[in-house]
Amino acid sequence: MFDKAFNRKNSGSYKWDTTVPEGLIERGAYPLSVADMEFQTPLEVREAIKDFTEKGFFCYTDADKAYRDSVREFLARRHNFEIENDWITCVGGVVFTINTAIRAFTNEGDKVIIQSPVYYPFSKSILNNKRIIADNPLVPEGNTYKMNFPDLEKIAAQDDVKLMLLCSPHNPVGRVWTKEELKRVGEICLKNNVVLVSDEIHFDLVRKNQEHIVINNVDDSFSKNTVICTAVSKTFNLAGLGTSNIIIADKALREKFQTQLSADGYSCINCVSRPATIAAYTKCDYWIDGVNDYIEENIRLVNDILSDIPQIKIYDCQGTYLMWLDMRELGMSDDELDLFLQNECGIIQDPGFWFGENGKGFTRLNVACPRDILEKSIKELRNQILKRV
Ligand SMILES: Cc1ncc(COP(=O)(O)O)c(C=O)c1O
Repeated sequence: MFDKAFNRKNSGSYKWDTTVPEGLIERGAYPLSVADMEFQTPLEVREAIKDFTEKGFFCYTDADKAYRDSVREFLARRHNFEIENDWITCVGGVVFTINTAIRAFTNEGDKVIIQSPVYYPFSKSILNNKRIIADNPLVPEGNTYKMNFPDLEKIAAQDDVKLMLLCSPHNPVGRVWTKEELKRVGEICLKNNVVLVSDEIHFDLVRKNQEHIVINNVDDSFSKNTVICTAVSKTFNLAGLGTSNIIIADKALREKFQTQLSADGYSCINCVSRPATIAAYTKCDYWIDGVNDYIEENIRLVNDILSDIPQIKIYDCQGTYLMWLDMRELGMSDDELDLFLQNECGIIQDPGFWFGENGKGFTRLNVACPRDILEKSIKELRNQILKRV
């Protein structure tokens, strides 16, 4: 199911068409970049979309009871997270949500906490809204990253710090945060009146030895000031539908968010995402298990192929399908590294510096693609490095 390769050139794909330099795919390069998968969305979802489109009505669409039930039951079944239907606010994406939350809960000039290196739209959203980044950089330790809690305590205690963007699981470093870590983050935010936006978009994609914990499940009291971002997009490869389900348990917090959302001009959900979400959340648990197994094997493969290359340090990918590789030992500038990967290895990457200054010299590789293609790409990377050292 996941082995089948597709050439998605000229399909309007942002990954394949927009971000790739002219002629590179034709010369054999492959995009291990933008975070969508090279796997077809589950058959049940495709059929639901087909049934819907054949009816020919692309109407204004509400997140009705059937839709909300499917989200609520999925969260309870897969994440042990019990919610009520009206805690769900639908928004046209998690990045949209982050921007709206920043406007809803902070004022211009206020500070918003992030933990770099992190998904770059976090900092962009803060800056675009004329707020200030309060960075609490993650600390590398062995082949993983830890949070710097003493610094987080100090930052959150500042008067003008109003919101924190938590990435859980974390893109790009691949951490699945433990209960203890989440407890400390939740407590620090609660104590300091810092609204905690927990971006859990990757929550279904974790390794077998890991458990993703929804922030509110750590402690009931956290529900007072959390905005939890969930979506079908990463899990089922439906990013282009532009839909996310934002869970806000606290009524006052939810209403504040919804008032801003309305001011931002968002109301109805995408009509196609209604049947797609219902099908994904009611019929496709098997697909999540299958895709997780496949990704886990792909991650193992990358680690195996590069195991005798000390110039590359691979971080433990506990969650997401994005691997974080430290390539600084190769001694290349960011431009040189990008050109080396593209032209000599045939790998189109997302450069680490996009995720923060502390990502310089790193690369983020998307391994949600057919295994034989990944194997060929990573073997080429290994060969090219061996040629140079
Ligand atoms: C952590 C994280 N949040 C949000 C998004 C994008 O969400 P959306 O497409 O719903 O805006 C991504 C996509 O890569 C992501 O990795």
